[in-house]
Amino acid sequence: MEIAKTIPQIRTLVDEKRKAGKSIGFVPTMGALHQGHAALIKTAAAKCDEVVVSVFVNPTQFGPNEDFEAYPRTLEADIEKAKEAGARIIFCPERSEVYGGKSFIQFEITELGNRLCGASRPGHFNGVVQIVNKLFNIVRPDVAIFGQKDIQQFRILEQMTAEFNHNIEIVMGETVRAADGLALSSRNTYLSTEERITAPALFGFLQQAGREITGLALQHIANPREKLSTEIREICTKAEKRLNENGFTADYVEAVNYHDLQSVTTINSGDRIVVAAAAKLGKTRLIDNLVLTV
Ligand code: PAF
Repeated sequence: MEIAKTIPQIRTLVDEKRKAGKSIGFVPTMGALHQGHAALIKTAAAKCDEVVVSVFVNPTQFGPNEDFEAYPRTLEADIEKAKEAGARIIFCPERSEVYGGKSFIQFEITELGNRLCGASRPGHFNGVVQIVNKLFNIVRPDVAIFGQKDIQQFRILEQMTAEFNHNIEIVMGETVRAADGLALSSRNTYLSTEERITAPALFGFLQQAGREITGLALQHIANPREKLSTEIREICTKAEKRLNENGFTADYVEAVNYHDLQSVTTINSGDRIVVAAAAKLGKTRLIDNLVLTV
């Protein structure tokens, strides 16, 4: 395993691989690697000759009352897991290496950032765009893989890559789930034993909403429904209510278009609809989503 802690070190390593004719896959992470990350690394390894994994808990994407300090930091174990999954290079910089001095530039994300998690985590996606933009310029990979679980992050980064002309293929890795359906997340380690038993219900309610929205979408395509958006909202509100009745505090359940992440108002055959949910269970904020193609 080759470990780079500074920007010149990672650039030299990547340049060497490139000169040897190797393609570079990249999996940016905040560490605390689990099977979900392992799947992203395996996808990168299947597509590219070399895989770089970055491990950096990015301060600029955490709000003042969020879990930046508490976020699990497990670098030694992460290196082992990344290696097992097929990565050969780790980039694990210190904060001062990435954020040298005062930053005078902020990103403004419009429609893609104002709904779903963007509504309750102001500034979060600006921080994500800031760090991934930096990492793309530092590592300059051919392919970068991000998980579907963070669908809003995925869509924003896909758009950022296109708008900022990064010559990088963005690939979506499927959500990896525990046997009971809970989407794997580094934050699942915060759940108490009791909360862990309740947690998979989030996916259950999401699936139920997904089935109902698919049914409605198919009816709409066959015979357009005037009140489609109201009916979709009712399904989402019912799912929020179910969450609240089952020990969660729902933040949102929403059905949005994949392209602009805005509420679905009409549906055509072949459209991609994201049904996404966020809810707190105790102190842990869980997110999950389904992408429906109707
Ligand atoms: O998904 C994550 O772990 C982070 O948001 C990312 C993409 C590594 C940026 O810090």
